[in-house]
Amino acid sequence: MENSFYNLIHHIEAKTAFKCQSYKEKPLKRRLRVRMRALGLADFSAYLEHLKRDPQEVDRLLDILTINLSFFFRNPETFAFLQQHQFVEFRKKNESLVLWSAGCANGEEPYSLAISAAECSLLNRVTIYGTDIDQGTVNQAQKGMYSASSFQYTPDRVVQKYFTKTKEGYRINDDIRARVHFLHIDLLEKASFGLCDLIMCRNVLIYLNRRAQSAVIRNFYKQLKTSGYLIIGKVELLIGIPEVKLFEAVSRAEHIYRKVNE
Ligand SMILES: C[S@@+](CC[C@H](N)C(=O)[O-])C[C@H]1O[C@@H](n2cnc3c(N)ncnc32)[C@H](O)[C@@H]1O
Repeated sequence: MENSFYNLIHHIEAKTAFKCQSYKEKPLKRRLRVRMRALGLADFSAYLEHLKRDPQEVDRLLDILTINLSFFFRNPETFAFLQQHQFVEFRKKNESLVLWSAGCANGEEPYSLAISAAECSLLNRVTIYGTDIDQGTVNQAQKGMYSASSFQYTPDRVVQKYFTKTKEGYRINDDIRARVHFLHIDLLEKASFGLCDLIMCRNVLIYLNRRAQSAVIRNFYKQLKTSGYLIIGKVELLIGIPEVKLFEAVSRAEHIYRKVNE
């Protein structure tokens, strides 16, 4: 069983950019089994044979391995905190700002950052990057079109102000969309843009193993400007890896950290 599992993940790594060996093994196996059950396949070897026979299966599998669920203003109290503290500080600095939503799924998070910037009169000064390993979600994010289910944490006032209702759904307004650039980037590799004032990476680290978490946090440290901010998910903690000492907590409740400077 162990050999057949490793044969399978080596095959997935050869066919895709998804580095299975950087993810926690138990959840990875669980998600593979979901797909195997749906296909009526008994074990990893049978699934490997199926992947070899059906080249389109790899795309379906990637959809399952990269969990793309997101919402606008997910954990609204975190966005409220940012607007009351970090964005107030940014306004005082009077400089241009770079914000990065790392693992941005279909774009809900970077657009929420852009709307927050607009609410704080910072929109014209921000450049926001939304990046994800899944090219399909990057393409979807660029369209900026959403269904009502994306707005469960968003006040109606915000939806009315920043979206236009169309027959297909809710389209993000052009002035917000113009500030957000979407890129296909694996967090385990170096980002290809300049230094950031703030990095938001939520509900991604939880899927990675310790070694990969360390690599990602080291990347974030290098990618942040002096005293830049890192926000991780409510289900995630900066513990158990040596890179913890690179950051100090700003809000333990909101999982907001600041880069400790050398
Ligand atoms: C659960 S979603 C989180 C979306 C958003 N950050 C939020 O909290 O609502 C996780 C996203 O991380 C992306 N992801 C997973 N591994 C990644 C990696 N190595 N590099 C970049 N994105 C990754 C997935 O494709 C998925 O879109």
